[in-house]
Amino acid sequence: MGSERTSVGVGLVGLGTIGTGVVRVLTQNAAVIEQRLGVPLRVVRIADLDTETDRGVDLTGIRFDDDTAGLLEDPEVDIVIELVGGYDFALDLSLRAIGAGKHVVTANKALLALHGKQIFDAASRQGVDVAFEASVGGGIPILRSLREGFAANNVLSVHGILNGTTNYVLTEMEKTGEAFEVVLKRAQDLGYAEADPTFDVDGIDAAHKLTLLAAMAFGASLTFEQVPTEGIRGLTPVDFEAAEEFGYRIKLLGIAKARGENAERIEARVHPVLVLKTSLLANVDGAMNAVAVTGDAVGPTLSYGAGAGEMPTASAVVGDLIEIAREVVRGGHGRVAPLSYLPGELREKPLVPLEEIFGRAYLRLTVRDRPGVLGVIASTLGEHEVGIESVIQKGRGGATESVSVLMQTHSVRESDLRAALDSIDRMLDVTAPTRMIRIEEDL
Ligand code: HSE
Repeated sequence: MGSERTSVGVGLVGLGTIGTGVVRVLTQNAAVIEQRLGVPLRVVRIADLDTETDRGVDLTGIRFDDDTAGLLEDPEVDIVIELVGGYDFALDLSLRAIGAGKHVVTANKALLALHGKQIFDAASRQGVDVAFEASVGGGIPILRSLREGFAANNVLSVHGILNGTTNYVLTEMEKTGEAFEVVLKRAQDLGYAEADPTFDVDGIDAAHKLTLLAAMAFGASLTFEQVPTEGIRGLTPVDFEAAEEFGYRIKLLGIAKARGENAERIEARVHPVLVLKTSLLANVDGAMNAVAVTGDAVGPTLSYGAGAGEMPTASAVVGDLIEIAREVVRGGHGRVAPLSYLPGELREKPLVPLEEIFGRAYLRLTVRDRPGVLGVIASTLGEHEVGIESVIQKGRGGATESVSVLMQTHSVRESDLRAALDSIDRMLDVTAPTRMIRIEEDL
């Protein structure tokens, strides 16, 4: 190796929950890390605005202040960890670190899903690495798997439970029969959900993560804004009862699929789906995450683990540190390209519009319970080529009260289904917009 390095220096910006976990892992596991790396990984300095709060970790020998600029310029820092979150400051910080010739490790999926190209291009020009394993699936090493473990494959599909908060809410709604708002409030009280839950419950966090997965799986030059995203608001207890009776569970999935030879087009979307109760992803409960990747050589695979939390996320951050530090020790020229494909091989790939997607669907219709109503609805569906596979009615209403009618359709083109639902929702006896949830069968 010929390296004269006696350590690799780390500068950490942001000493919150994950940052504290990083210090804890590096301290607790220093011996095993050195056995794998050959030299110690040393936290040289930490920058955070709050230098007073005791984080319960030993910071002896680490310079700890609010001098981010000084940290970025410090010659003893080889790798900068960005754990401040958000967009503007994190982007500026990452670009300044890269400009100063530092490698960057981040857990910031929002930043990369919006500004990844700018950051990766800057890193490539500067000849430094950007690693972001912690940004998707928390502690699950799914990005490394896509970059390296699946590198021999044409990836056919990726299906992920990518957001622990929503998976927790869905699991609780199914278990307790309680309404979304009740379960969300409890999740907030328990600290599982943020006070402002928008990013999680509206699918935005999952879409940030899916953007990165789809880019890596298919070599797609993709940004978050392109990904159709729907969250879990509006799901009701009756949807869970009906899903159970039809043999499914409800999950919020990020889905990416190759279409055509060489994945000329791709599907990339985040929305709730019904998945067969017997599928592996259906049985991922609570705040856990899981990602199913199917490759043409490997076939179906599944990775499962904690998608958030201090130590699991720190595990992924420190894994990135070790991978980069190995290159630093070797005096090498960087790791595998951050998005797995060489930068010049990333392509703009048209997304298949949702309207073109074929599949079965679950419908929750809210209708007056009058003779003939179902017949008219069935005819309207038929006129749009939508076949009904089975129907359940919940409760007994009457001419003035509404009931839920739950249906499974046969496989249908989404544009036909949408057209049918537009007509149905205009009928006088249909008293609320119909809820459609796609049934995902490729699992
Ligand atoms: N808020 C995310 C989740 C964790 O609920 O899974 C961080 O990515």
